[in-house]
Amino acid sequence: MTAAELRRLYIDFFVENFDHAEIKGASLIPENDPTVLFTTAGMHPLVPFLLGEDHPSGKRLVNAQKCIRTGDIEEVGDATHLTFFEMLGNWSLGDYFKEGAIQMSFEFLTKNRESGGLGLALSELAVTCFEGDSDAPKDEESAEIWRKLGVSDDRIAFLPKKDNWWGPAGSTGPCGPDTEMFYWTGDGDAPDVYDPEDNSWVEIWNDVFMQYNKNEAGAFEPLNQTNVDTGMGLERVLAVLGGVKSPYDTELFREAIEEIRMLANISEPNESQIQSERIIADHLRTATFILGDPFGVSPSNTDQGYILRRVIRRAIRHGRKLGIETDFARKIAGIYVKTYIDSYPELMTNQDRIFAEMAKEEMNFNKTLNRGISVLSKEMEKLDGMKDKGVRAFADDFIFEMFATYGFPVEMTIEELKNAGWIQNEKDIEFVMTKFEENFVKHQELSRSGAEKKFSGGLADSSEETTALHTATHLLHKALKIVLGDHVEQRGSNITSERLRFDFSHPEKMTPEQKEEVEKIVNEQIQAALPISCEEMTVDEAKENGAIGLFESKYGDKVKVYTVGEGENVFSKEICGGPHVENTSTIKSFKIKKEESSSSGVRRIKAVIGV
Ligand code: ALA
Repeated sequence: MTAAELRRLYIDFFVENFDHAEIKGASLIPENDPTVLFTTAGMHPLVPFLLGEDHPSGKRLVNAQKCIRTGDIEEVGDATHLTFFEMLGNWSLGDYFKEGAIQMSFEFLTKNRESGGLGLALSELAVTCFEGDSDAPKDEESAEIWRKLGVSDDRIAFLPKKDNWWGPAGSTGPCGPDTEMFYWTGDGDAPDVYDPEDNSWVEIWNDVFMQYNKNEAGAFEPLNQTNVDTGMGLERVLAVLGGVKSPYDTELFREAIEEIRMLANISEPNESQIQSERIIADHLRTATFILGDPFGVSPSNTDQGYILRRVIRRAIRHGRKLGIETDFARKIAGIYVKTYIDSYPELMTNQDRIFAEMAKEEMNFNKTLNRGISVLSKEMEKLDGMKDKGVRAFADDFIFEMFATYGFPVEMTIEELKNAGWIQNEKDIEFVMTKFEENFVKHQELSRSGAEKKFSGGLADSSEETTALHTATHLLHKALKIVLGDHVEQRGSNITSERLRFDFSHPEKMTPEQKEEVEKIVNEQIQAALPISCEEMTVDEAKENGAIGLFESKYGDKVKVYTVGEGENVFSKEICGGPHVENTSTIKSFKIKKEESSSSGVRRIKAVIGV
């Protein structure tokens, strides 16, 4: 089965058999959520709806969502870890609960292909349920539903929170116990008894029963509605269905890996080469999707830009390790654009940007590497008389400085020192790593004061401050269009409880007069005490009504349109999930704190309000 077929099979199954509405996956860069850098799960963009907002497409939803998780980035290179993946998910927003969700999962897993399911044998499946603790009871209910469907007690394990609880996606928000489904991928028939320690059992799906909200104090309060959030990792299931051990052996990676081998001139890779080619294949796929996102960011030293820079540079480093001598990042990106052209057309739309940024970052990093190598060679020459002292001849903070001042990766310093004979054995490596870490910690302590502040806010926050900032963002968006022109389009939005941040397309720095004018217009709307109303309509109707905002949804999808003002005094209409304040007077006042460049052709405004 191909990835495209699997996506279709999953979505159609829920649409046709269980009355779900297919919704479009959201952007990888979360809108209005400063608590996480990337969309990490299908439920993430749906948080307001899990908390009780009405979703315009109804109470049963299904989609494929692109996700990024970089928590295990160091593990990438083995057979299973990926930093980008697609999650197939179905949701109940206060509609069906445990019985419905488990029944649907069971049918999709076990029904044969002709009937629209995956056709997996029940004899190869096992499940886990939550064992209970002081926050929530043991989930006997889910286990009983599985038993009734024919799963034997030996194939049901009860596990603690660290295994069978999911969420919240940020520090607060909806979460709950889950039941996870595992498929036997080992040799021969599955053993009668499920053993959670045996990693031949591969997790393929997770049904989360979102019935709690984790609050700021860390307590779990029952939600007003009981929701279901499920997630099936597309790459993993594709591997299972194809009978291969790893997602890297599926069609999604095949062409990229073949190209890497060709560039490196390798036909029979050894273990370390396989690790490097997987790192390259994974990281450049992730980078392609970040650059190709509608809110695409550029490589930088902060936030998403930093992660992007890190994955591209790590891929390039492994390219050098494999002996690839030409630039290759752009070429591999091209393969992914082609692989995903039908499912993610935004990659095609943004391909010029993807290619240009990849090539630029690769060129810059190559310069950094070459400069680092030259600094390192000079230092080695200088210390040549002390070679008998080995790596201890270098200053204690030398390797850290190579990293901090010249951006030269630690692993590469070690590699070079090894090649030149300064590092002889594991003990030497341990010595330099200890020195590096000591200096790193010292450096972190110095810079901690600023970095440690955690943002509050996010999609799970519907406090008065964030709601008012959300409405102020609509006023700002419209005011920018009035002052700068119709070319202004939203390129990203991020709200904490203290400030709003709005990125928009505009080719040059705003003048002081323009900023004043924008502030004046927004403040006039606040003083006019305009009411805010919300209507649901199709994308076409929204367009006809002159609504602004992201027309990302599919044709026929219903969207919410928020109108500021009424009758003759309508100031703005914008597509948005909400929530918003009822009247602009709640905002009290509006002030732009900063206007700066965000990336090429995109400006960024940070502003505060008077709530
Ligand atoms: N949100 C759940 C997960 O990511 C489904 O596993």
